[in-house]
Amino acid sequence: MSETPAAIEVSALCKRYGDYEAVRGIDITVQRGEVFGLLGPNGAGKTTTVEILEGYRARTSGEVSVLGQDPANRSIELRRRIGIVLQSGGIYSHITPREALRHWASFYPHPRDVEEVLDLAGLREKADVRSRRLSGGQLRRLDFALALVGDPELIFLDEPTTGFDPEARRAAWETVRSLRELGKTILLTTHYLEEAQALADRVAIVKDGRILAIGPPRELGVGAAHYRVVYRGRDGELVELQTDDPTRLLHELAGEALERGESLQELSVARPTLEDVYLELTADA
Ligand SMILES: Nc1ncnc2c1ncn2[C@@H]1O[C@H](COP(=O)(O)OP(=O)(O)OP(=O)(O)O)[C@@H](O)[C@H]1O
Ligand SMILES: [Mg+2]
Repeated sequence: MSETPAAIEVSALCKRYGDYEAVRGIDITVQRGEVFGLLGPNGAGKTTTVEILEGYRARTSGEVSVLGQDPANRSIELRRRIGIVLQSGGIYSHITPREALRHWASFYPHPRDVEEVLDLAGLREKADVRSRRLSGGQLRRLDFALALVGDPELIFLDEPTTGFDPEARRAAWETVRSLRELGKTILLTTHYLEEAQALADRVAIVKDGRILAIGPPRELGVGAAHYRVVYRGRDGELVELQTDDPTRLLHELAGEALERGESLQELSVARPTLEDVYLELTADA
């Protein structure tokens, strides 16, 4: 079988639901071993895109390659190489996490140890509780565990940590990092921008079915949003300034202060965060 070097290649992807164009020409390449984040407001087309890549939805047009195959063919061989957290899981109401994981593991040629995955997902104490008795966050942990148990090469996580408490979210981040260290490829959607900043090698910001920006989270900020410079002025009030050119602004502010024989109290310079960039790019005109 011939393999493309990239894990995912998408070009000119379009998806219409009736008259509505949910995805309007998306191009994305995700390298093997990369953690790639899809960000964007509700209804941007993230789940549509991800589910086309998973083989769960048909595309209207465009080229898609996942681990060298077209997911529309729904081959079993491809299924065994990918793991999925759907945005809406929760189909296992009558069975326990341990049973669900054992069942799911049986579809994969080289599954992970079910007990280890129960620990990874923080479900040890609920391993034998029927799923309908689990809390929302615990059910989401089960979804996450199900995506890992097959030990797949490529993992799709559609809002995997929604509903997680802060500790569970940090644990999930650690798991994603350890998967990355094992060389797995991860495509993740999230509304938690600090999650994308913490995990993703690159992100794409999507709105109305189009990509507005793509790149490493730290580099997206450059040129898009402004640096914030804050200090306490002579009257005791906090002064906040925004600038594209913090070097020049700091030079001027510091020069003036030194001439007066003063210092800039509580001076700080903040880079634009991914959230600043996101809000600026996705704001309605
Ligand atoms: N099965 C469907 N039939 C018709 N329209 C749909 C269908 N699924 C999604 N849509 C529409 O397509 C658009 C994109 O939806 P999608 O679920 O891909 O968004 P999303 O980016 O995942 O949003 P969220 O952040 O809320 O999960 C939305 O306007 C939605 O109403
Ligand atoms: Mg979605």
